[in-house]
Amino acid sequence: MAPILHVQQHTALSLTLSTIGALTLATIFYQIVSFLLSTFIVSGHSLEKFKDKKSADGTWAVITGASDGLGRQYALQLADKGFNVLLISRTKAKLDALAEEISNKAKKSYDGGAQAEVLAVDFSTAGDEQYGQIERALKGKVVGVLINNVGLSHDRPVVFSETSLEEMESIIKINCLATLRVTKTVLPFMLPQRRGLILTMGSFAGLTPTPLLATYSGSKAFLQAWNTALAAELAPQGIVCTLAQAYLITSAMSKVRRPTWLIPTEKAFVKSSLAKIGNRGGSWGFGRGTGTPYWSHALIAGVVTGVSGAASDLTVGINKRMHEDILRRVLRKEKREREAGKKKE
Ligand SMILES: NC(=O)c1ccc[n+]([C@@H]2O[C@H](COP(=O)([O-])OP(=O)(O)OC[C@H]3O[C@@H](n4cnc5c(N)ncnc54)[C@H](OP(=O)(O)O)[C@@H]3O)[C@@H](O)[C@H]2O)c1
Repeated sequence: MAPILHVQQHTALSLTLSTIGALTLATIFYQIVSFLLSTFIVSGHSLEKFKDKKSADGTWAVITGASDGLGRQYALQLADKGFNVLLISRTKAKLDALAEEISNKAKKSYDGGAQAEVLAVDFSTAGDEQYGQIERALKGKVVGVLINNVGLSHDRPVVFSETSLEEMESIIKINCLATLRVTKTVLPFMLPQRRGLILTMGSFAGLTPTPLLATYSGSKAFLQAWNTALAAELAPQGIVCTLAQAYLITSAMSKVRRPTWLIPTEKAFVKSSLAKIGNRGGSWGFGRGTGTPYWSHALIAGVVTGVSGAASDLTVGINKRMHEDILRRVLRKEKREREAGKKKE
């Protein structure tokens, strides 16, 4: 009897192992196919879906952090697609110049094009008065799109114990509180049409915990969970919520000027982002509405979430070494500049 029992145990073990192997291979295959489809082949929701064709005044898009970087590109590209734009950030002069650029371009277009309005708000100090201002600016408007773009990161990599209280509070107020309050202010202008898009800028710092950017990293992880919850609440009301994950993009925030295959320009990133609304990219395992719209970012997100693990010791360790290295380079540069300054004196 004993050898028969042994053979049966052996068969059961090999069956279990081959089932696990087949399931693992099927999962990997599914992830690769869904990455390829959502990154290169399938386009996202059409922006036309978020327009109210019956509205005589057209449909409005609200963009925060609109005067520069990605926000400026969201404003330009949404205006090009026929949305009126309400531009919000701190510097009125920059917003006015952008509004003029959009209106001039619109005048030249055949269909009359977009209207642009501006509102100067500092989200690091904004309170009831400023959110009331936004609400008043929206009275009578049909809002189809909200781009929660405004964001603040640390001035440089810094350990949490040495992060200034001012920087810590500004990051949380701008990235978290302002995003929530702007969304709460805009939603009543979107809900009656039972259609709309709320696009929030995420970051790889939220996808994977990032030492030396701990507060920023936490704020973006907060937005990730918030967006997923909001997406589930608002889907039955026709509102699409999406969080766009991004690695580096050339901008004032990243301090990177030269684009590479890995670091796109603001224009290229926003173009992908608006073309891939609702697609996952490489962000497996993250809830409804989290996507990685730019192809090379999607590739890294796929490896991080599918292979090395978003919060694994390996990933967090690599991230830590990367930011320690950036800090060393910043300090070396500052030392060189100080020494050059002394020589001039
Ligand atoms: N660039 C990247 O590599 C990268 C990567 C991942 C995620 N992101 C995210 O993408 C978003 C946009 O980043 P970006 O690189 O375009 O940033 P950016 O170039 O620094 O532009 C920031 C925009 O926000 C406005 N702003 C800054 N502080 C503000 C405040 N307190 N109140 C109101 N407006 C304020 C700025 O205009 P004013 O100075 O006129 O106010 C500017 O229009 C952020 O949420 C960021 O976290 C960026």
